[in-house]
Amino acid sequence: MRKIVYPRAGGVETIQIVDSLNPIPGPGEVCVRVNKAGVNFAELMMRQGLYGSSPKFPFTPGYEASGEIISIGEGVDSFKEGDRVLAMTGFGGWAEEVVLDEGRVFLLPDGVSFEQAAAIPVTYGTAFHMLVHLGNLAKEDTVLIHHAAGGVGTAVSQICDSYGASLVVGTASSPKKDFVESMGMRFVDRDAEDFVEVCKDMTDGKGVHHAIDPVGGRHLMRSLKATRRGGKLYYFGASGAVKGQKRSRTSELRMWWGMPRFDPIKLMTSNKAVFGVHMGLLEDPSIFRGHLDALSTMLEEGKINPVIDSIWRFEQVSEAQMHMHDRKNKGKILLDFS
Ligand SMILES: NC(=O)c1ccc[n+]([C@@H]2O[C@H](COP(=O)([O-])OP(=O)(O)OC[C@H]3O[C@@H](n4cnc5c(N)ncnc54)[C@H](OP(=O)(O)O)[C@@H]3O)[C@@H](O)[C@H]2O)c1
Repeated sequence: MRKIVYPRAGGVETIQIVDSLNPIPGPGEVCVRVNKAGVNFAELMMRQGLYGSSPKFPFTPGYEASGEIISIGEGVDSFKEGDRVLAMTGFGGWAEEVVLDEGRVFLLPDGVSFEQAAAIPVTYGTAFHMLVHLGNLAKEDTVLIHHAAGGVGTAVSQICDSYGASLVVGTASSPKKDFVESMGMRFVDRDAEDFVEVCKDMTDGKGVHHAIDPVGGRHLMRSLKATRRGGKLYYFGASGAVKGQKRSRTSELRMWWGMPRFDPIKLMTSNKAVFGVHMGLLEDPSIFRGHLDALSTMLEEGKINPVIDSIWRFEQVSEAQMHMHDRKNKGKILLDFS
């Protein structure tokens, strides 16, 4: 079988596709033949050596994959060969076959396609965790999201819609205006408008209930400023540290240097909250399982449906990553291993 390998930190030219022995599941494990796998911004950062919790090089990335069980290890009784599943691999999912603990595998409901399954976990799981689990998203709430046209951005907009949020302000680059508006968001051109002002203007000067920031640096404090008294800020990414497909020390330094130090007294007197979110480092896996159950019901009820930007053969992984580096994706990018 073949798998994608990051041999060392670098640009997309470092990515390799290598032949490997077919993996054999041990006790409590299953082997999944991968059909589709999600491409996340996190995997671009891993390739650059910017992702704190990734394994040492060389390694196979791939947070999430969908496919079919082809063999099961000793003691596995909740799955059988031929089952269609979602595999929450964390790492290693960008391979034709992957072995993982049965606890990280979820049976797919009949109507759910491999494409939908591979597009949902990271983006919708993260959006749901922030807005619903931590944020107690309520009807008429107002929300600010950055990179609004991307995987997490489109998931946020659909979840907000289904919970009856009254306003989602979405920032993105100018070519994505029509798309962001078609998702029902108030588009903010990241380079031409001040999103803090827009959030205030659209909420009678109060600010939004929830601000979701994957950028970091000085941007984070501006997102906090866009929230109202009693508002919530979620910090969950560091896209500000990435510039192009090669690692940029200057961008990294600028982002870390600009990181705010939150004043607890100000947070207390304004009743604001700041959450840090890293779905790959959740203490309790049952939390994520609960999110997937809820999302699966929402999918069945037609309340969410992932927007797929494009599907690339896995041999084109470099092109697929460049598509995201070039900020061209509208929705989720998938790799096809079928
Ligand atoms: N903490 C967690 O558990 C967690 C989980 C999932 C995602 N995230 C974070 O959420 C963010 C979105 O992730 P995603 O996977 O859904 O990606 P995505 O939004 O589908 O794609 C990336 C988008 O980010 C924008 N962008 C901003 N800076 C960029 C840069 N330096 N290079 C390329 N694109 C850049 C681009 O859109 P515009 O130019 O239009 O803005 C691009 O289309 C990322 O920061 C990611 O790390 C965190």
